[in-house]
Amino acid sequence: MRHPVRVAVTGAAGSISYSMVYRIASGEMFGPDQPVILQLVELPVAMNALKGVAMELADGAYPLLHSVTLHDNVQEGFAGVHYAVLVGARPRGKGMERQDLLEANAAIFAEQGKALSDFANPDVRVLVVGNPANTNALIASRNAPNLSPSQFTAMTRLDHNRVVGMVAEKLGVNAGSVRRAAIWGNHSATQYPDLHHAVLDDGSSVIDQLDAADYRENLIPAVQKRGAAIIEARGLSSAASASQAAIDHMRDWAAGSDRHDWVSMGIISDGSYGIAKGIFYSFPVQCNFGAYRIIQGLEINEMSRELMQATEKELLEERAMIEHLLPKETEEAHDNFSYSSEPHKPAHQELT
Ligand code: NAD
Ligand code: LMR
Repeated sequence: MRHPVRVAVTGAAGSISYSMVYRIASGEMFGPDQPVILQLVELPVAMNALKGVAMELADGAYPLLHSVTLHDNVQEGFAGVHYAVLVGARPRGKGMERQDLLEANAAIFAEQGKALSDFANPDVRVLVVGNPANTNALIASRNAPNLSPSQFTAMTRLDHNRVVGMVAEKLGVNAGSVRRAAIWGNHSATQYPDLHHAVLDDGSSVIDQLDAADYRENLIPAVQKRGAAIIEARGLSSAASASQAAIDHMRDWAAGSDRHDWVSMGIISDGSYGIAKGIFYSFPVQCNFGAYRIIQGLEINEMSRELMQATEKELLEERAMIEHLLPKETEEAHDNFSYSSEPHKPAHQELT
């Protein structure tokens, strides 16, 4: 049996976490022979609910669950963690403008970035789920001087899975046979679900089997607005599918993604495809044992370029709205970190 890995989850008594922590305990995120220690973090007001979550974890009698600790602060909650899934965030309240929401979350994710930098395992890998996920990831990473920005990611895997699911339904094929979809940009209504490079497992092109107008006018907006459609239908935001996406994201990042396929991750832009450096932008990537690599050399047509730039513009605007709250960044900081070239050591080998 391996040494356990420490996994922090914030917002651990909320809806997404309630669909996720039991699946982490059962091995779906880190594999069937990887024990886990869950370090669950909540707001002080939700600690009682969190105790209930912990009781149910105990009642599941999961063989891979080494132990569970409960925390009302991130300094303790992030101590020694190898993975952190940052789900808890301030939801948009009545009368709150986008700028207010960005600023409220900036304070939360600045504290979390600093705590990860000070207390987590130096090789920690972080997934930001709480919205606005891309800009929250930027804030956390900029407040984590001891960590590389490449250790922070924002979740666009849900959008990726959504477009794959919709294509499968449209073409009457199994979702597992749709490969090489890509989400570019922000986890928001400006994201660009790109099917120009997608193929089915028989090698046929997806875009050739879609009606061009239907793709542009129906499918793209349906993916962009799917989160809102679920809120409208359920009265609550997506939770089961968001949990699935978080599990997919972390599992692929830690263990490697299918080498015949791509996945989408919100990562620090290194300037690939002309996207501004330093924002957290979703790119198609492949993962290999803790490292990710942007798929390079894709042909970008005029329509794609326009949509990729629209979502880049939104991310630049979001950054401008909270720029005054970010610690100053030196030019070297951009050039000195390795984005994805150095595979991380598997976390379980680092424990002594
Ligand atoms: P929820 O309201 O059910 O749960 C959120 C939990 O986070 C609550 O229990 C709350 O007490 C806790 N929390 C809030 N601030 C916290 C903090 N500073 N530290 C620790 N805990 C904190 O919400 P949910 O449905 O679980 O969604 C969580 C977030 O995920 C929301 O921001 C939502 O918009 C976002 N989301 C993102 C995606 C994505 O694809 N990136 C998809 C779905 C939802
Ligand atoms: C989703 O895509 O389902 C969520 O990000 C929607 C939301 O605003 O919580």
